[in-house]
Amino acid sequence: MPATLADRLEVMFASLKEKREEVVGLLVGEGPQLPPLARQLDSDGDGVLNKAAKEAGFTGKSKSVVEILVPTGLKEKRVLLFGGGAAGKADENDWIMLGGSSVAKLQSANCKAASLVVEVDGEAELPDHEIAAAMAVGALLRSYKFDKYITKKDADEDSATANKLGKLVVHCAEPKKAEKAFVRQNAIGRGVMLARDLVNEPANVLGPVEFAERAKALEDVGVDVEVLDVKELKKRKMGALLAVAQGSSRPARVVVMRWNGSKKSAAPVAFIGKGVVFDTGGISIKPSAGMEDMKGDMGGAACVVGLMHALAARKAKVNAVGVIGCVENMPSGDATRPGDIVTSMSGQTIEVLNTDAEGRLVLADIMYYAQDRFKPQMMVDLATLTGAIMVALGKNYAGLFCNNDELAEGLLAASKATGEKAWRMPLDKAFHKLIDSKNADVKNLGGRWGGACTAAAFLERFVTDKDTPWAHIDLAGTAMDAPKNEISQSWASGWGVRLLDRLVADRYES
Ligand code: BES
Ligand code: MN
Ligand code: ZN
Repeated sequence: MPATLADRLEVMFASLKEKREEVVGLLVGEGPQLPPLARQLDSDGDGVLNKAAKEAGFTGKSKSVVEILVPTGLKEKRVLLFGGGAAGKADENDWIMLGGSSVAKLQSANCKAASLVVEVDGEAELPDHEIAAAMAVGALLRSYKFDKYITKKDADEDSATANKLGKLVVHCAEPKKAEKAFVRQNAIGRGVMLARDLVNEPANVLGPVEFAERAKALEDVGVDVEVLDVKELKKRKMGALLAVAQGSSRPARVVVMRWNGSKKSAAPVAFIGKGVVFDTGGISIKPSAGMEDMKGDMGGAACVVGLMHALAARKAKVNAVGVIGCVENMPSGDATRPGDIVTSMSGQTIEVLNTDAEGRLVLADIMYYAQDRFKPQMMVDLATLTGAIMVALGKNYAGLFCNNDELAEGLLAASKATGEKAWRMPLDKAFHKLIDSKNADVKNLGGRWGGACTAAAFLERFVTDKDTPWAHIDLAGTAMDAPKNEISQSWASGWGVRLLDRLVADRYES
């Protein structure tokens, strides 16, 4: 495991009887009474819990909290009541989110360790140990921070508002079962955090070669990883991808990751990621304001790496391949010029009218490569492809383009289930007209309008077998500088890992 995955929060499970930390959070549903352990604490404390709940108008509604400082008669320094809502209505994702918002409250209690008591007692659709595991991963994701380059952490820890919480003990009736359920949750959570780490990492540290090395580390969880260098990419005639990379002094890499969790004969599902470690725009250079954000232009590739980690670590019963194209888009004497015509691996020629529309060139070659080599039963590509998708959908929704209604429906269902929002956008012949070139088979620029749609149409030309269900997800708005929520507070969200893991679990596992 890379060092950056070092935990800021240690999560463990314990029984209801085990010793509690001095700060305790109690999960309380919308029922008429407190759950058993809370009732016992209440009587030990002379009814202080009920009194505080009444005083605060607390009814157990979801997202409500009561904090009781120094409750008399109890050993605990603080008790927090967390509203679990009508437990019967809550699904797994609701519990994950509640884990995130609960740990945030416990963090602000300014303690080193805390207990969280899960005792929903059969009122919920999920058993308590699964709720405990879901809340635990929510807590873990909420605690993620990218602070490896802050050298003055001590000063930060002295401040009154600092988050000192380093240990969370989740209590439930069957902690052994919770631990087991957590294996899956933890695999997914680690995948999300791995994606966040990659996106947050600055481009001087994470060049194409270093990115490939990080992906190579997935061998530790049983993923088979191949790294193709420039010589091999030239041999395979990836002229489009190499045209993007040629302006940079740092050489390109393509990484092929394989997780074989199903029988050998089963066609794999394929995930393809844009891994532009930094996008200056190239000769069609971007304005300087905000250009620093382009260190995140490998959000699609990061998602694929995070997903492959999740699938392998939870031993998903599926054959999956991940292919990512790692390049840097720089202006230089060697850079591709506007007007250049390049030949992609598929044989189609591309007129490069704007060197800042580079992501589609990278994807063209690796999408073709993945289909040619693996004949996948389905293919999803992920890319921070266009600013236009943010104009269309804002920063809460990723854009979903899909040539197959069943796949689109599966993706949207997984999106609903995980709260990682996506919205379907059109593929249409009309967009293809806009990218026909006078001088080559296709040009890398559409007109003024519908920039996300002409980009998707461009990619569609590289889906060589039209019967292969294919989806393109434009996550320019959601992967980086994303809106904060219960489980994501970092600049990089790790968007898509949970969604795609869920898609695989619900539709592609044997
Ligand atoms: N990486 C950018 C898209 C992007 C913009 C991602 C902002 C995240 C935040 C992409 O390579 C790009 O530059 N797209 C151009 C395409 C245009 C030149 C057709 C864009 O969106 O402006
Ligand atoms: Mn660009
Ligand atoms: Zn880009």
